[in-house]
Amino acid sequence: MPKDSAGHLVPGAVTLTRPVPPHIVRPEYVGKKSPGRFAGGDVYPPEKIALIRESGRIAARAIEAVGQAITPGVTTEYLDQVGHDFLIAHDAYPSTLGYRGYPKSLCSSVNEVICHGIPDDTVLENGDIVNIDITAYKNGVHGDSNATFVVGETSEEVALLVERTRESLRRGIKAVAPGRQVNVIGRAIESYAKRFGYGVVRDFTGHGVGEAFHSGLIIPHYDSAPLHDTVMEVGMVFTIEPMLTLGSYEWDMWADDWTVTTKDKSITAQFEHTLVVTERGAEVLTLP
Ligand code: MF3
Ligand code: CO
Ligand code: CO
Repeated sequence: MPKDSAGHLVPGAVTLTRPVPPHIVRPEYVGKKSPGRFAGGDVYPPEKIALIRESGRIAARAIEAVGQAITPGVTTEYLDQVGHDFLIAHDAYPSTLGYRGYPKSLCSSVNEVICHGIPDDTVLENGDIVNIDITAYKNGVHGDSNATFVVGETSEEVALLVERTRESLRRGIKAVAPGRQVNVIGRAIESYAKRFGYGVVRDFTGHGVGEAFHSGLIIPHYDSAPLHDTVMEVGMVFTIEPMLTLGSYEWDMWADDWTVTTKDKSITAQFEHTLVVTERGAEVLTLP
């Protein structure tokens, strides 16, 4: 079931909605078609940043816990259970569960899946890569992070893609400073990725995050100047989450209306952090 004769992924079976204990506070959008309009901004006072850091740490530790469970033979459905149970145990709500109808507690994006893969009965095989994207909601704020893991051992070409995607996020974060436009972030990421001929996904972006899962602020991962000229300010909180591919940046959507793959089925990797702009640059809020 997990792959066709060409080795490409096909949708698996999505079953069971995992319960969340009643004492865990839900984001406002759960049970609705889409989130209400977000009236707030992207700049937070230190007390709120401390809360985003707490949600961010839970998300980061949940990703670590899922990472430790990744091995050939496990299903992405099982990884969803590991992530879900970790968040619940830390009194956090899995922000993706019930977000615009998304059915699971994390996104698991395998091989040619760029993002938003839904955990199902797909069995991970040696040589696959899988991105685990977890957002934790606690104390009224979200912390959003993701990382790509190699299943067993993979080719040098794919291992390099994963490591260079991690490095591209680091470079994007280094470009953050108050007074600069947000488009400097994508410039740093794209110029690094281009050295290796990688595709840089354009239509899925970083975003403002905090009281809203997606605030409306957009952070491109390519050089978008003169567009996306929002000037960074101390206390501004957003994600950077570059998706790089071994082929082109064009994409396709599965019939589930969530799973985004590369159009050419090339392998793709992603890393994500939530960060806050500081006087000196950026502080990552999604560290374990
Ligand atoms: N966590 C993802 C992001 O980085 C969003 C996932 S939304 C979902 O923005 F509905 F697909 F889960
Ligand atoms: Co995000
Ligand atoms: Co995310």
